[in-house]
Amino acid sequence: MMNNRYGKLASLVYHLDKPIGRSFGDVEYYLARLQGISGPILEPAVGTGRILIPLLQAGLDVSGFDLSQEMLDYCQRELGLRSLKTRLELAGFGDFKAERPLEVIVVPAGSFQLLDSFEQGIAALRRFHASLKTGGRLLLDLDPVAAILNVRPGLRTWSAPPHGLITLNASALEKDYCAQVTREMHRYELWEQGVLLETQLEQFSLRWWGVEELRMALEQLGFGEIVISGGYQYGKPPQDTDGIISFEARKL
Ligand SMILES: C[S@@+](CC[C@H](N)C(=O)[O-])C[C@H]1O[C@@H](n2cnc3c(N)ncnc32)[C@H](O)[C@@H]1O
Repeated sequence: MMNNRYGKLASLVYHLDKPIGRSFGDVEYYLARLQGISGPILEPAVGTGRILIPLLQAGLDVSGFDLSQEMLDYCQRELGLRSLKTRLELAGFGDFKAERPLEVIVVPAGSFQLLDSFEQGIAALRRFHASLKTGGRLLLDLDPVAAILNVRPGLRTWSAPPHGLITLNASALEKDYCAQVTREMHRYELWEQGVLLETQLEQFSLRWWGVEELRMALEQLGFGEIVISGGYQYGKPPQDTDGIISFEARKL
């Protein structure tokens, strides 16, 4: 079974739950941090375009890639509805290709933590570094460790137009404290008038990073001028009460 697959039902749930432009403070934060940028920007793990589309609408030159064709299909459709165009690539953190040296890479929504080993995370950071022009910036959000460890698996439901209901049953599989990884099994079901039409099973795993662990990794890979901010307040040192921790680092 593929990990963190975001297949048909998972993509539909993401799109219903977090439609284009839905902000957790991140849309405004990224718009502010990217103000005045005219060069190419890349959003790895772009998903349905929840953030990409508001950035394009603000006149930024943003493209994206994602490992899920289903997520990219939503993104393509939403771009079309707004007569917007950009390059979307079906690719992973480990094999994406940037067509030209990038000005900025943005990784919101804790997507970096979907890479569930230290080695994969380092390989992605190395690839980001190689894809940026000298002086270019990496902006990357981490969910705090507590948010990953304290997740309460259970049942959630969404109505799926026109007549359906989607359920997501999440069960905890393991917490590997040495590898800093949590694993859950996600069972999605699509129901219509009490009849089960479709089921999808996905293993979902997240790796948590220590704040200083990621800072050291970035420094070792050739990034500098690292600013770590809490709660989408640029320059404010992160605290336990912050729902998100944002890194900004420059390629030296
Ligand atoms: C939480 S969603 C974020 C989507 C979008 N960036 C946003 O902010 O709404 C995570 C995305 O990561 C993608 N993904 C998971 N593993 C990936 C990988 N190894 N490489 C690239 N994308 C991946 C999923 O398909 C999904 O679209």
